[in-house]
Amino acid sequence: MRGIITATAHYVPDKRLTNKDLEKMVDTNDEWITTRTGIKERRILDQDKGASYMANRVAEKLIEKRGISADEIDLIILATATPDMYVPSASALVQNNIKANNCWAFDINAGCSGFIYALITASKFIAAGKEKKIIIIGVEKLSAYVDYEDRNLCVLFGDGAGGVLLEPGEDDQYGIQDYILRTDGKGAQYLNLKAGGSIMPASIATVSNKLHYLYQDGKIVFKFAVKGITDTFLRLIKQNGLIADDIDLFIPHQANYRIISAVGEKIGLPAEKIMVNVQKYGNTSAATIPIAMSEAYDEKRIKKGDKIVLSAFGAGFTWGSVLLNWAK
Ligand code: COA
Repeated sequence: MRGIITATAHYVPDKRLTNKDLEKMVDTNDEWITTRTGIKERRILDQDKGASYMANRVAEKLIEKRGISADEIDLIILATATPDMYVPSASALVQNNIKANNCWAFDINAGCSGFIYALITASKFIAAGKEKKIIIIGVEKLSAYVDYEDRNLCVLFGDGAGGVLLEPGEDDQYGIQDYILRTDGKGAQYLNLKAGGSIMPASIATVSNKLHYLYQDGKIVFKFAVKGITDTFLRLIKQNGLIADDIDLFIPHQANYRIISAVGEKIGLPAEKIMVNVQKYGNTSAATIPIAMSEAYDEKRIKKGDKIVLSAFGAGFTWGSVLLNWAK
């Protein structure tokens, strides 16, 4: 039994942080940010709200769009590296907020690959037959972990959430067909948030040394991202007897337009078959793919039978690609 996506939804905060705004905060300019990343603006959640606030909105929209009640949800899987708190999970907060009284819920942290990890995890529960309605959400409040005095980082990230409802399909030619997912922990040194975990609990020193902010070696991450996404995309379509031309829409992780266009060239897909919205939201980590998928669906760029590949790369390193045939 394959999982099919029966609803998509996304939520982004109203507050915009534009390149012009950033020019007033750090030594940068619109031209540098646009040419290096393609990003024009990002959304920022209010300081007094947590990631679950955005995930709640997405879960409510999914339930409303599908015309079901929250009590029908069997499982909530939330992909995030920026939960409201370490304990309990953000998915527990969402379960309570939307009053999904008959479900269980857990978080997955796989960095920017979190959504596709969660989607494949959910598809296994669908295949096993017990859970019939699973909410999968990618959500991040990265503004809480970005140093707005560090021009290397603060131009890249934003806040947002997106998600899907996964249900059993009746026809195996639709739904999630195949995937390749990978992890290589050697990448931990290049993209991390050092303090606040069990190896380096919060202290006056960790705060004064700014160790609660994200760190990355941008050049290394860039190289691995292009290679990881290209390799898994090409191997995935090949093992399914497809060529790039057979893919109707490619929805890559939206980290940086240069990564997306470098991958596009290597896999041989024209720009009109690649979903891009990084200019509007920046990198929202686990949320980029479900936000992009939801927007693509709303813009009628997805129709029944379309072959779609989702590809991500993120902290860990984690990466991979998923092949699905759209069912609705
Ligand atoms: N504005 C202006 N100048 C900036 C800047 C900014 N916001 N950020 C960095 N610079 C400067 C650097 O200090 C450096 O100056 P120097 O040469 O005087 O030292 C110069 O610009 C070039 O920096 P560099 O790091 O070589 O730029 P780059 O071409 O590698 O682009 C990234 C930087 C971060 C945009 C790029 O490496 C990248 O996109 N990496 C992948 C990041 C990513 O997507 N991560 C998440 C993956 S899940």
